[in-house]
Amino acid sequence: MSAAAKDSEMSGDAIGPAVGVATRHESAHLHVAGRAPYADDLPLPGNALHAAFGLSTRAHATITALDLSAVLAQPGVIAVATPADVPGDNNYGGILQDDPIFTDALVQYAGQPIFAVAATSYEAARRAVRAAKIEYEDLPAILDTRDAIAAQSFVIPTRTMRRGEPEAALEAAPRRLRGSAAIGGQDHFYLEGQIAIALPQEGGAVQIISSTQHPTEVQHIVAHALGVHAHDVVVQCRRMGGGFGGKESQPALIAAAAAILARKTGRAVKLRLDRDVDMLATGKRHDFIADYDVGFDADGRIRALKLMIASRCGYSADLSGPVNDRALCHIDNAYFLEHVEVVSHRCKTHTVSNTAFRGFGGPQGMMVIEKIVDDIARALGRDPLDVRKLNFYGIGERDTTPYGQRVEDNVLHEITGRLEADAEYWQRRAAIAEWNAASPVVKRGLALTPVKFGISFNATHYNQAGALLHVYSDGTVLLNHGGTEMGQGLYTKVQQVVAQELGLPLTAIRVSATDTSKVPNTSATAASSGSDLNGKAAQHAARRIRRRLARLAAANWGVDADAVRFAAGTVSAGAQHMSFQQLVQQAYFARVPLSATGFYRTPKIHWDRERLHGRPFYYYAYGAAVAEVAIDTLTGETKLLRADILHDAGRSLNPAIDRGQVEGGFLQGVGWLTSEELWWNARGELKTHAPSTYKIPTAYDWAARTTVRLLELPNREASIHRSKAVGEPPLMLGMSVYHAIRDAVAACGTPGQPVELPAPATPEAVLRAVARLRGEAWAA
Ligand code: MTE
Ligand code: MOS
Repeated sequence: MSAAAKDSEMSGDAIGPAVGVATRHESAHLHVAGRAPYADDLPLPGNALHAAFGLSTRAHATITALDLSAVLAQPGVIAVATPADVPGDNNYGGILQDDPIFTDALVQYAGQPIFAVAATSYEAARRAVRAAKIEYEDLPAILDTRDAIAAQSFVIPTRTMRRGEPEAALEAAPRRLRGSAAIGGQDHFYLEGQIAIALPQEGGAVQIISSTQHPTEVQHIVAHALGVHAHDVVVQCRRMGGGFGGKESQPALIAAAAAILARKTGRAVKLRLDRDVDMLATGKRHDFIADYDVGFDADGRIRALKLMIASRCGYSADLSGPVNDRALCHIDNAYFLEHVEVVSHRCKTHTVSNTAFRGFGGPQGMMVIEKIVDDIARALGRDPLDVRKLNFYGIGERDTTPYGQRVEDNVLHEITGRLEADAEYWQRRAAIAEWNAASPVVKRGLALTPVKFGISFNATHYNQAGALLHVYSDGTVLLNHGGTEMGQGLYTKVQQVVAQELGLPLTAIRVSATDTSKVPNTSATAASSGSDLNGKAAQHAARRIRRRLARLAAANWGVDADAVRFAAGTVSAGAQHMSFQQLVQQAYFARVPLSATGFYRTPKIHWDRERLHGRPFYYYAYGAAVAEVAIDTLTGETKLLRADILHDAGRSLNPAIDRGQVEGGFLQGVGWLTSEELWWNARGELKTHAPSTYKIPTAYDWAARTTVRLLELPNREASIHRSKAVGEPPLMLGMSVYHAIRDAVAACGTPGQPVELPAPATPEAVLRAVARLRGEAWAA
């Protein structure tokens, strides 16, 4: 392709198929120039106010006195809001109503919002909250997951997933191993923090600008908080500077607090959390612990597994139910578990309420089974890759998950086989053994880990989407759909889908901000299903318009409507043709409606939430990665030397965007498992609430040598253009780096010695794990 042709394709002017082309993100040119407006960039009405939260400093306490008179006396302060100022429900919990917007007498975590202040400037609001006089009476706090289990402190009842006869099969197994795992949480660290703007409208209505993955939930919670109806609240979101699951349920808190202050003052109110408040007050990825008892044969094939997993949910339910259900549904990852029992505790602790995070519990479940498989391999002295492959789901046999769904689209063997060869796994395995034998201080490690991730919301009703498409009489198209843009490229993909249906260049189609007044009752943009759902809904709307236009052209030309083609901005049938714009003008004069809605619901899925049984997922997305690391056994430092990734995006809608998702997801997973450590002190205060103490990966952590490839196989199911969802699964490719570190640590001990390395594998954790293997007393 000539440079000029490539240029025009990249700018979206290409005429030809739009789907499957590596076009740039629709806002890329705005992102890089600083011209893409985020909520904080929008102009405000002249008398707008800025808000800030006053947070609790205790983990568990009753408030015995709250005096905000000094706050009100601070310069610039116009109003404060406490539970008494909430006209409707003082709650932002989406599933259970256990999340107060402003907590009343009871404080349940250090960092919980108690009140908010509205002032004439951001600085004035932030300064004013510090003047509050709050007296507490401390209550005993449960901070640790094991303490919560001992106290039977749960936010929702324990669930058990079971198949076969695990007890009998354990007894009968030739080998048996017991062990534990600990997997840390993760802060979302979106570049744009939580923010909402509430703009009062006539008759008690309110408009909300929110950085949210879930505009409809923000709409409902704000309506309930204000005591108004859904039709009184409009929520809009053009883009987020990252969400990663942290903007599914949390934005309702921010929007509701802003709306309450806007109602009280009659003025527009913006609430933007600074980084520290964001990290203290809003939920994160659940950290998990696990205890297992596994039976296997001499080759390492798993015969039976009994497992306890427990997550730290924090003080309230939030999305912990579905997050833990998804952990259960990914406890198998790529492996067939015939006789299995998993007990899943959802622990209530006096810490911030944990929430969705890329993978939604799935990554934690997968980390548990990957550790078990790795432990089995090391106990047997086999290469972990051999034991992994031995336990893979079969094709046509050994293919039913513990929750009853058959794995019909298994490409694990193909991906692993290709990656093994392309990444020269076995040659490098031998080279690393040689290196380690000669290198006492710097040890190397290698690992290949697979990913199988279920696509669809477990809650079946969430798997629906709507779209609204307008064609204007100049032939341009405006599309609105229920999905939100958080950088993942959803708007670009949906634009491509519509361009393809109408045979138009991308520049003819504008996707407008997500807006609850245009498409109602939307689902969160989550579970990676944004393009699957909204792509199909937009396609449906575009097809309805195309059918109307085709009928008109067919009548003019005396041909069958099916013979009319839409391509390259032209509509044609045989030798007859006209431009799309001309046909649209004719349609307008012929009084043909040029606006259509579209709708989609995912077929085939069903789920019995009580029995944890059914077909929760329309299909699975797969991937695998090989990582090679070096560790310094004197400092515990680790370095990613090389990564090779093969990821299944089906027939990719946009290989450039999908590649970006794979690269970003992988590195975010590496951060979760190697450097991002959340640390609470004994009083339950989170001490890692800024980038100074919380280390996310940067471009420098990218391996010097990396290959990223997409497996170009069409989805077996009739998803949008046979593509596959790609948002979350690549995060779990980061497990390869954690396991490569384990492998390097293992090289410090003798074969067969168990490796105890919690995640994240920070330098401290690595140093301790190495010392333990070497029998150093301090690490015992
Ligand atoms: N990519 C970027 N750049 N920013 C994000 O916030 N969120 C991830 C993933 N990729 C995210 C992202 C999460 S948690 C999900 S569920 C999906 O994108 C949501 O978008 P999709 O359904 O359109 O893939
Ligand atoms: Mo993603 S955790 O489903 O928002």
